[in-house]
Amino acid sequence: MTVMLADVASTSVATTTGGMKIVSVVNQKGGMGKTTITMQLAAALSRWHRVLVVDVDPQQSTVWWAENAERHLPFDFAGSQRPSVLSRLSHLDHEYDFVLVDTPGSLEDTRTLEVVVDASDFVIVPLAPEPLAVEPTMRTIQRFIEPRGVRFAVLLNRIDPRIHGQLETWKELLDVTLGVPRLDACLRQYKAQADAPVLGSLVTTVRDNRNTQGAIWDVTRLGLEVTEQLSPQLQGAW
Ligand SMILES: Nc1ncnc2c1ncn2[C@@H]1O[C@H](COP(=O)(O)OP(=O)(O)O)[C@@H](O)[C@H]1O
Ligand SMILES: [Mg+2]
Repeated sequence: MTVMLADVASTSVATTTGGMKIVSVVNQKGGMGKTTITMQLAAALSRWHRVLVVDVDPQQSTVWWAENAERHLPFDFAGSQRPSVLSRLSHLDHEYDFVLVDTPGSLEDTRTLEVVVDASDFVIVPLAPEPLAVEPTMRTIQRFIEPRGVRFAVLLNRIDPRIHGQLETWKELLDVTLGVPRLDACLRQYKAQADAPVLGSLVTTVRDNRNTQGAIWDVTRLGLEVTEQLSPQLQGAW
């Protein structure tokens, strides 16, 4: 269902229980998988939770994906949003368990990132195993995420299972050399993921077969880890 956030926000009663979690997917470096992770993680979480996807990226990649999915979208969707809408989402506290936010990969529009990160309970920073992506990713973390005190973790994406040792090398770079928090889950590179936007498919709607099972497994595991990270019982553990 497509949601008109302005309407919802102005007509609902402001009551907050603190249950709803806002998870944003942020990296100033483009092409790391922000849109893919937002949409697929939203689908995985929608198996167990009420999920809303909000897109504040002017490029609107999720809108195209959502249109291709037609009525098969397993979560509510609000494309083309201004970032300021995020600070008013407490109105939706009883409607959703998770709000996932896709953001632009831009070096210029820093205000959008600041507003999104400030509104977030958790920030996922996708990183593909490309040496040239490390510096802009670390800059995003150090300039926009760490100073704001929000919980965050890097998510390795587009890991190539055929390259021996690639995953281990990148885990070690993050854990030891760079010392940044990392999700245990990682997403491998699959054609099923690359094809998903044009097909309008998601890990919960695609047929489970030899070509799709790896992507389904990866995203399901990510969904479980994110749920675990944000469940109220475990919050003191951070
Ligand atoms: N795990 C993956 N396997 C295969 N292709 C992927 C994967 N993650 C992202 N892609 C592809 O990489 C490109 C960039 O991903 P995208 O999600 O659009 O990144 P961003 O939103 O950060 O710019 C897209 O063509 C997307 O389909
Ligand atoms: Mg994108």
